[in-house]
Amino acid sequence: IKMTTMESLIGLVNRIQRVCTVLGDHGGDNALPTLWESLPSVAVVGGQSSGKSSVLESIVGRDFLPRGSGIVTRRPLVLQLHKTDDEERDYAEFLHLPKEKFTDFAMVRKEIQDETDRMTGRSKQISPIPIHLSIYSPNVVNLTLVDLPGLTKVAIEGQPDSIVQDIENMVRSYVDKPNCIILAISPANQDIATSDAIKLAREVDPAGERTFGVLTKLDLMDKGTNALDVLEGRSYRLQNPWVGVVNRSQADINKNVDMIAARRREREYFATSPEYGHLASKMGSEYLAKLLSKHLESVIRAQIPMITSMINKSIEELEVEMDHLGRPVAVDAGAQLYTILELCRAFDRVFKEHLD
Ligand code: GDP
Ligand code: NA
Ligand code: MG
Repeated sequence: IKMTTMESLIGLVNRIQRVCTVLGDHGGDNALPTLWESLPSVAVVGGQSSGKSSVLESIVGRDFLPRGSGIVTRRPLVLQLHKTDDEERDYAEFLHLPKEKFTDFAMVRKEIQDETDRMTGRSKQISPIPIHLSIYSPNVVNLTLVDLPGLTKVAIEGQPDSIVQDIENMVRSYVDKPNCIILAISPANQDIATSDAIKLAREVDPAGERTFGVLTKLDLMDKGTNALDVLEGRSYRLQNPWVGVVNRSQADINKNVDMIAARRREREYFATSPEYGHLASKMGSEYLAKLLSKHLESVIRAQIPMITSMINKSIEELEVEMDHLGRPVAVDAGAQLYTILELCRAFDRVFKEHLD
């Protein structure tokens, strides 16, 4: 299968996923929930303030996530990236605000904060109910990413004692799925042996096949120490290579240092580093994004037979369901089912056309 075909297949999978989400509970008894479960996504896992939201942002290449010290991410954020041909502009859309196109990404961040508060109050409480956000841009790869609250060891003032377990359960419900690619985020200024990310990843993915180890805060390590043992896979071995990154510091965030400047600085950091210079081409956020999309592609490639048979099953079931509903014009669920049916047929068509 050619690259462009692969891209359009991933694009279609993404769109099917999105419509399934919109459809939510109206899905009925067809195979769609199973289809949804079978599609790959990427989740970030790690301790509080390890740099999860920062890493996600730099993978996307846009500033739009709330970041900072303490518990900032308090609901899962399911983020779908859609690659478009429209060179003109990037925009974002929330599932809970279907008619609004956001072109100002500062407003996206504000809406994530507001929507978090709407569910939890302006507290330090968390909620397992995800916020769904889609970003449409010519500059992204087709990916579904999930930002999650950080794992903690103790409840703080204003939080129930159950919060430690609640967060772990919430994170687990995403990374338990065999199709979830785990971005295990550990800060370089803490001992890797104490990493919450690695602890959980090791439990759910003991062979390290779907875990990517990401080491943040390389710039904050004590003078005279370095992270070569981790980055070169000697401390904790994974099937995939470890990637070190340097995100913006809190001072950078306060000064509004933008993404482009941050990426330039990150590149310079690795290129000129006496310790990591020899690894420079395999470090940094841009490399991580490429590595992930390549991996995702190979996962989808391996799953195509299964996805195709699932989609064919869905087509049959959807047709039955459509017949049952008649051709509802005003009924939203009917229209959504119809969209999924069309997407599934498109997937089937693209796949068959390009079969070697
Ligand atoms: P999260 O809680 O895991 O989502 O972490 P955030 O992305 O919100 O980051 C927590 C804090 O760590 C913020 O103040 C970031 O600026 C800072 N931070 C994250 N990564 C790095 C890094 O690589 N270097 C430095 N100096 N600071 C970082
Ligand atoms: Na944080
Ligand atoms: Mg966060």
